[in-house]
This record gives sequence, C-alpha cells and structure tokens, in this order.
Amino acid sequence: MTINPLSLELGAEHRRDLVQRAADHRRPGTARRRRRLPLRVRQIRPDDGRLVAEIFAGLGLASRFSRYLTGKPRLSAAELRYFTEVDHRDHEALIAVTRNRGEAIGVARYVRDRQHPTHAEVAIEVVDDWQNRGVGSLLAARLSARAKHEGISHITALMTADNVRSRRLLERIGTLTGITRDGAAVTYDAVLT
Ligand SMILES: CC(C)(COP(=O)(O)OP(=O)(O)OC[C@H]1O[C@@H](n2cnc3c(N)ncnc32)[C@H](O)[C@@H]1OP(=O)(O)O)[C@@H](O)C(=O)NCCC(=O)NCCS
Repeated sequence: MTINPLSLELGAEHRRDLVQRAADHRRPGTARRRRRLPLRVRQIRPDDGRLVAEIFAGLGLASRFSRYLTGKPRLSAAELRYFTEVDHRDHEALIAVTRNRGEAIGVARYVRDRQHPTHAEVAIEVVDDWQNRGVGSLLAARLSARAKHEGISHITALMTADNVRSRRLLERIGTLTGITRDGAAVTYDAVLT
C-alpha cells in the first residue's frame, strides 16, 4: 500500500465536483488567535484505530477529498491497521490529541520510498473543527523532525492542484523543488529544511 491506499477509481466527473467543493470550502480570513494549543502530539500506536477513524469522520467531504482524493465515507479495517501498525522508521505517524478530553484532531505521517530511502511521501490531516489554529503547522514541524532523524531529506506530497493551504504548509517545512501535475492532482517535491 502507499500513503493513500484509498480508491482513486472515482469517476472524472465526481472528482471534478469534489475538487470544486474543496475549493469552495477554503475560506480566507479565518480569525486567528495565537496561544498555546491544548493538545499533545505523540507517535501513533496499534490500538489507535478508533482515533484514526474519528479523525477521518471529522474531515468534511472537501477535506477528505483534499487528503485522500476520494469521497469515501469510512476507512476499512485493513486501512486502519495500515495507518496504525507502523514501524516508526520507514512509516511514521504522529497523532494530535486534545489534552482535556483525549479527542483525536489530526494526524501526520510519512512513508519512506523503498527505492530512494532518503525520500518519503508525507500527508497531514486535521479535522475541520480544528483547522486554522496551528495544528497542521505543529504536526508538520514534528513530522519533519522525525523524518530528518530517520535519514529522510526529500519529501513528496500529493494533493489537489487548488490546495494552496497544504502547499503553504509544505513550504513551512521544506523548499519546493518540483511539481508534477496529473489532472486535478499535483505532486510536490521538497527538500526538508
Ligand atoms: C492542510 C491542513 C492539514 C492544514 O491544517 P491546519 O491545522 O488548518 O493548519 P494551520 O492552522 O497550521 O495553518 C493554516 C493557517 O492557519 C495559520 N495559523 C498557524 N498557526 C496559527 C494559530 N496559532 N492561530 C491561528 N492561525 C494559525 C497558518 O499561518 C495558516 O495560514 P495560511 O493558510 O494562510 O498559510 C488542513 O487544512 C487539512 O487537514 N486539510 C484537509 C486535508 C489536506 O488537504 N491535507 C493535505 C494533503 S496531504
């Protein structure tokens, strides 16, 4: 499996519709408060399937499509296992959980490229209710540190072409070196800084 094991077999029309909804969903000018986030970030564990499923459920259709390029309603048991049973070296996943109620609000992961061990694909998702508060940036920074510690210097990220926010997130942890376009999807290459 890859970092995105979900189906890409979506019809072109359905995909275009979801891309448009994702674009509509991104609203500039969201109120910003600078304060310490009431959460903790830790490495994912094999028993975190429920939390990963909750995060997936907390992604609106637009966010889900932005991350997985699918509108699929839930993750299968096999996908949950893949996302939680990681070796923390070639596949690392960090989960953000609220301090007070233990709610899962985001997850970031990398999966190393077997052919190019210094390269990995990354993906980050934050539930809609917690977006624009710095959670994604925090997860990206922690993931970058973990990746560099494991000898990864280059990352790639697959997203929809209009996903400007995610591209900016990527630029906060790396320098973009390449862009490959495939229809509505774009793969960014970056060197971790
Ligand atoms: C992309 C994604 C992970 C970003 O997560 P996020 O938690 O909203 O990210 P942040 O809050 O750190 O950053 C978003 C904005 O808030 C700003 N911000 C950062 N810290 C902040 C804080 N403490 N308070 C308020 N705003 C803050 C950032 O500067 C950023 O602004 P920008 O978009 O103008 O650059 C999230 O939108 C998401 O899950 N999207 C759907 C899935 C997806 O597209 N994943 C990426 C493909 S792999």
